[in-house]
Amino acid sequence: MDTTVSSDRLRERFDEFNAIGATDRGGVDRPSLSDANRRARDRLVEWFEAAGLTVTVDELGNVFGRRAGRNDDLPPVLVGSHVDSQYNGGRYDGVIGVLGGLEIVETLNDAGIETERPIEVVAWSNEEGVRFQPDMLGSGAFAGKFDVEFAYDLTDKEGTRFGDELERIGYRGEAPCEPRDLHCYLELHVEQGPKLEAAGHSVGVVEGVYGFVWFDAAFEGAADHAGPTPMHQRHDALVATSDVVEAVRRIAGTGGEDLVGTVGSVDVSPNAINVIPERVDFTVDLRSYDDETVDRAAEQVRREIAHAADREGVDWDCEEVMRIESQSFDDDLVETVVDAADALDAEYTRLVSGAGHDASYLNRLCPTAMVFVPSVDGVSHTEDEFTEWEDVVAGTNVLLNAVRSKADEV
Ligand code: GLV
Ligand code: MN
Ligand code: MN
Repeated sequence: MDTTVSSDRLRERFDEFNAIGATDRGGVDRPSLSDANRRARDRLVEWFEAAGLTVTVDELGNVFGRRAGRNDDLPPVLVGSHVDSQYNGGRYDGVIGVLGGLEIVETLNDAGIETERPIEVVAWSNEEGVRFQPDMLGSGAFAGKFDVEFAYDLTDKEGTRFGDELERIGYRGEAPCEPRDLHCYLELHVEQGPKLEAAGHSVGVVEGVYGFVWFDAAFEGAADHAGPTPMHQRHDALVATSDVVEAVRRIAGTGGEDLVGTVGSVDVSPNAINVIPERVDFTVDLRSYDDETVDRAAEQVRREIAHAADREGVDWDCEEVMRIESQSFDDDLVETVVDAADALDAEYTRLVSGAGHDASYLNRLCPTAMVFVPSVDGVSHTEDEFTEWEDVVAGTNVLLNAVRSKADEV
């Protein structure tokens, strides 16, 4: 297979796409269903149509572009990722998987190559889960994990409904968001961690993804004056929270080799210099490749929240807003990715992903695998996210080879 993607075309698209919602510090700000997310979707749809793809938008705003196969009744090979970003996030996360899928189609078109099966490129809705939790919502609903009404009723911090925002940006489509027959799913993504860079390899063959749990938690104490209120009479929600932050660090450090834990969001009220914090809303994120490790850590964190509340005399609440089991990808499809890398003489590392991906839900529906490319300094979910362009191209070529071999299976 000596056909390769066009580095220049992909680069031009990448730069044009990331001008949408660009931040001053070199990242993008395109959270789910924002105006910038809508403009990114619009651009993608234009490009899909220009590449001859048939575009379908489903009830959750998942955008599919379909290239017909010689035998169009066969289940398609699906490739893609997401185009929503973190607040002030990076330019690569999700984007290279979607634009890489489009580049594959353009490459096949240019070379006049037909495939036996249809190929579909997808941009999943709300992968990041930063504005609306849970994350991986569009792919989760597609895989049958969430129903459409559940998704529509989710609200962001301002109380805005997912369904209303989807309608507002014009991406509440008609096609049902539900499982259907797929030959396989392949996703190209940045690693978002340090392993590939350390190995000096351009390509990662992903064998699975960590499971994780998210909590939305809160402490409610009593606001009071920071001057006259004696220390022993305080019910300080932030003091209780700081105990939990420390406990999460301790539990993650001791609860299992690959266990990681993060308190990533803390909202303090009234957040004033001379008022004792009355309420804190905060989040907890716990992950491991071993589901029992995650379960055990989740239980420990719940207990620590209750103890911290007791000590400080505050009320507490802890709601699980996300839980997904670890996934191990289809062995044969993983070997297809290995063969695709070998065909290009690309050196690769086999690894599992600590970051969540739409591929985790697709793995429930059909054989699934992923291709990673390195993240410089392992950095992601920030504006500094960076991948050397030649690595993006190498990963896209691996994806192209893997897609071609799957799309020609009868
Ligand atoms: C998604 O980006 C996640 O891993 O949280
Ligand atoms: Mn991503
Ligand atoms: Mn992400």
